[in-house]
Amino acid sequence: MNVLHVNKAISFNLQISDIAPDKSISHRCAIFSLLSDKTSIVRNYLQAEDTLCTLNIVKSLGTEVKDEDGVLHITPPSCIAEPPLILDCGNSGTAMRLLMGFLSSCEGFFVLHGDKYLSSRPMKRVAAPLKNVGAKIDGRQNGDLSPICIRGAKIEPFDYKSPISSAQVKSALILAAINSKNNTPSIFSEPELSRDHTERMLKGMGADIVCENNKIIVYPNKKPLHPLDISVPSDPSSAFFFAVAAAIIPNSKVILKDVLLNKTRIEAYKILQKMGANVEFIKKENKYESVGDIEIQSAPLKAVEVSENISWLIDELPVLSIAFAHAQGISKVRNAKELRVKESDRISVVVKNLNLCGIEAIEKEDGYDIKGGKFKDFRVNSFGDHRIAMSFAIAAVVCGGIIEDTECINTSFPNFIELLSKITQVEIKS
Ligand code: S3P
Repeated sequence: MNVLHVNKAISFNLQISDIAPDKSISHRCAIFSLLSDKTSIVRNYLQAEDTLCTLNIVKSLGTEVKDEDGVLHITPPSCIAEPPLILDCGNSGTAMRLLMGFLSSCEGFFVLHGDKYLSSRPMKRVAAPLKNVGAKIDGRQNGDLSPICIRGAKIEPFDYKSPISSAQVKSALILAAINSKNNTPSIFSEPELSRDHTERMLKGMGADIVCENNKIIVYPNKKPLHPLDISVPSDPSSAFFFAVAAAIIPNSKVILKDVLLNKTRIEAYKILQKMGANVEFIKKENKYESVGDIEIQSAPLKAVEVSENISWLIDELPVLSIAFAHAQGISKVRNAKELRVKESDRISVVVKNLNLCGIEAIEKEDGYDIKGGKFKDFRVNSFGDHRIAMSFAIAAVVCGGIIEDTECINTSFPNFIELLSKITQVEIKS
């Protein structure tokens, strides 16, 4: 088990141009290339454990992947191959859920599995609506837990109203519908719009998809889609760790280069702005998605209440909580029950770890209260969750701290520790 020792930092002024590429978009590049009959070109694909698992699965389904000087050339098979081995999703819920949707309407038999953390995460949210429209899916606990077995089947058109706002559920259903060879369109709606990369990218590939806010109408493909030609921008969720570091260390500033600026992904920066930090967005280009730089400067922070658009900041809430712990007053998070079914139960882990840092935090059923205070030198565990490991590494830049079990950082942000060492002294001990 790796243990990360982080020293207290002094102020910093940094421009970062090598934040990890976006994880959500990278997964989608690999999977969506299967919907074309030509070679997709993907620049800056995230080379982290989660997205490499997805790329390996796509290869197992018969795709040829060539890496030419860091540019991926992804050539799909004419017909999805039935893989002789089980498909390993590693730690990635996105890989498992999106592939459940895609494979449920492909001919063949497929088994998806993952690591011990993924094996305890709920898959029924995708399996149940898919089974209702004809998918043949099974797994432990009646199809809720992996390993998940799929026998490709005829998917009937649907009008599904999801009880949760989840891009993974939405994407799985869209992929099942698009691949279904029906003549009738399917409709998916969710309470609040979740991240919309699937709709944007598939439309960019020529798919017939109509988006009306949080309602999506999907017309099944009559012919293969155009291939992708895309440069994956930097991941705003990964970049946000350094945004919080700049916000909480007095006299600090960071410029995060070429970050995805999709509105469903930058809500956490807006919360930081509302808390008093200086945050500026500089838009640069827009193909499939809006991309630009984000500049963040430290300032005294004040507490905030967060209960809306939770799916727009679900991945950032752990490190946003570190900013809450530095703010004047009590910050409150509500309507965030989804945090309990991420890579760890992030409600209970954030509260437990903050308490170990000497911060008053109280667990609620659907969120928490955090009272701004003074951190003490701490030792916490990541519970195998990459975002918890990185959040507390950022907490440690203020007072020094030790984080146990940090290998998980490689699932999404392999150069995180290298970038952190530009701010302060860090050491990994095993
Ligand atoms: C993701 C969607 C989110 C997010 C995850 C990536 C995606 O999950 O937490 O890290 O790429 O679709 P849900 O939308 O299912 O909550």
